[in-house]
Parts: sequence; C-alpha cells; structure tokens
Amino acid sequence: MRVLITGAGGQIGHALVPALVARGDEVIATDIRALDYPTATAQLDILDKDNLRRLLHEWKPQEVYHLAAYLSARSEREPHLGWEINFRATWQVFEACKEAGVERVFWASSIAAFGPHTPRQATPQYPHMDPVGLYGIAKLAGERIAEYFFIRHGLDIRSLRFPGVVGPGHIPQGGTTDFAVHMFYAALREKHYTCYLLPDTTLPMLYIDDAIEAILQLMATPKERLSVRGAYNIHGMSFSPAQLEAEIQKRVPEFYCTYEPDFRQKLAESWPESIDDTYARRDWGWQPKYDLSTMAQAMWEALSQVPYESP
Ligand code: SER
Repeated sequence: MRVLITGAGGQIGHALVPALVARGDEVIATDIRALDYPTATAQLDILDKDNLRRLLHEWKPQEVYHLAAYLSARSEREPHLGWEINFRATWQVFEACKEAGVERVFWASSIAAFGPHTPRQATPQYPHMDPVGLYGIAKLAGERIAEYFFIRHGLDIRSLRFPGVVGPGHIPQGGTTDFAVHMFYAALREKHYTCYLLPDTTLPMLYIDDAIEAILQLMATPKERLSVRGAYNIHGMSFSPAQLEAEIQKRVPEFYCTYEPDFRQKLAESWPESIDDTYARRDWGWQPKYDLSTMAQAMWEALSQVPYESP
C-alpha cells in the first residue's frame, strides 16, 4: 500500500508511521518540520495546497492519513490559525484527495466536537453537539464536510473522535489532555507536577497502541460495513488527574501534584467523561486492550527504558 501522512511529526504520527512501515507500506511522512523517520519524508505546510497537490501527484498514495492539526489549547491561543489548520486545510486535503483519486482517507476528529449540552456519561454517537472551543468547532465542521464529501463525491473518508491519547516517546503540546503524558515525565524527572486541570476532572483517554490499532482496523474494514461517515466514537478508559496521580504514586511514592487550573479547565468540563462506542464495536469490531492500570504499567516500562526521548 502507498500511503501519505500529514502532521506525521505529532503524537499519533510518531506511532503510526512505524506501524505502517512495519506492515510493509510505502510511506511518505510529511510535516511542517523536517522529520527523521526511516521512510520517505517531505516538508509540507498543510495550508500550502499546491505543495500538497504536487506530493499527491508524485507519490500517488492509495491512502492518506491527515493528522496535521492545532490542538485545543493552542487553537484558543491562535484562533485564526487554529481554524485555518483544523478546518480549511482539512477541506483542502479532501479536495486534493478527490482530485488525485485517493482510495481512502483517514483524518482525526476529537471528543472536543462535543459540548456542554452533550450528555457527559456514555456519550452517544449522535447526541446534541455544541462545542465551545474553537478546536472542537473546527472538528465538528470537519465531520460534516467529511460526510458531505462522501455523499456528494464518493470520497471514502473515515474518522475517529479521539479522546486524550497517552503514549511514550513523544511529549504532546497544545492539548487539554496532555497532562496525562506530562505527569509521567514529571514523575521521573522532578517528582512533582503542576496540573492545569482540577483533580477530579474525569476525561476519556486511550493508550497509543489502542489508538493505532483503531486507525488500522477502521481503515481495513470493507466500506459497506461502515455506517458512520462523520467520525466514530471510541472509548478506552476514563480517569481524572487525581486518579492518575494515585496510579503513578504506586511506582513513585514521593510523587505529588499541585493543582492550578487555567483556561483548559473550561474546555475539559465541556467534554464527555465516558463514551458509548457501540457503533465502532458493531461496525468494525473495536475492542480496546488498555485500562488505566495496564496503560500506566506500559507507560512506565517504556519510559524507564528511554525516559527523556522526545522529537
Ligand atoms: N487531545 C486533544 C486535546 O486535548 C483532544 O482531542 O486538545
């Protein structure tokens, strides 16, 4: 399979690129920054439509994985660029993929597309959605434009509403769920972490191996079986900063957090605590492997080997 990835230097790309290379795909990994991956790479500003078109023309991928994004906190700090990157660029990617005859497109939606009037427990696939953060607004618009492209142009676009993704080897920046990764690194380095969310703010989360497995499984499913053309709900685990702190203290008893909530608290409070992923389970067999305790163990083992690695 010939594959092109955008935003390949980010948290998901960091794990997806080796997974696709390992299964024998011919991968071109693109990002705005220069990348150092054992596969073909190219620099691509996702807003540069001509460069994107050129790369698609030259590489002729069957699949495109569109991961370039500004996460929720960064989008609040730079709203115009947040909209451009999260929405306009996504539309341009879909257009360019249609023109280039790409067979399948994956792009990442988010739990941020839900809002304060969405039920927060076992959030259903099709609830009321009124996102208050700009990132979520762009993701919800992205879901609508994805389904529009499928209906109007037959472009086979697939997506997941990612919760917070936790994994080793890459320190995420610009998100509201980043604390879940930062806390592990802080436990190893300073034994203390200042958390920007309140201790009882429960959020849905996913271990990186489950996130990659979900992408690969969704993309491998025959298209007739997919009933959701916006983005699928998926659930892995839910925890609060205090619960993660307690989990880490099992390994580093002297570790502790202090809590100084900032503007990200409001975003987190407008997102679900847990997700109903019935459609994903039914349509393509989604089944997460990691819960809080197995995720923490996997993180700990990985970080104990290469604790400070980050691109
Ligand atoms: N992880 C994202 C964020 O925190 C949510 O999808 O912005």
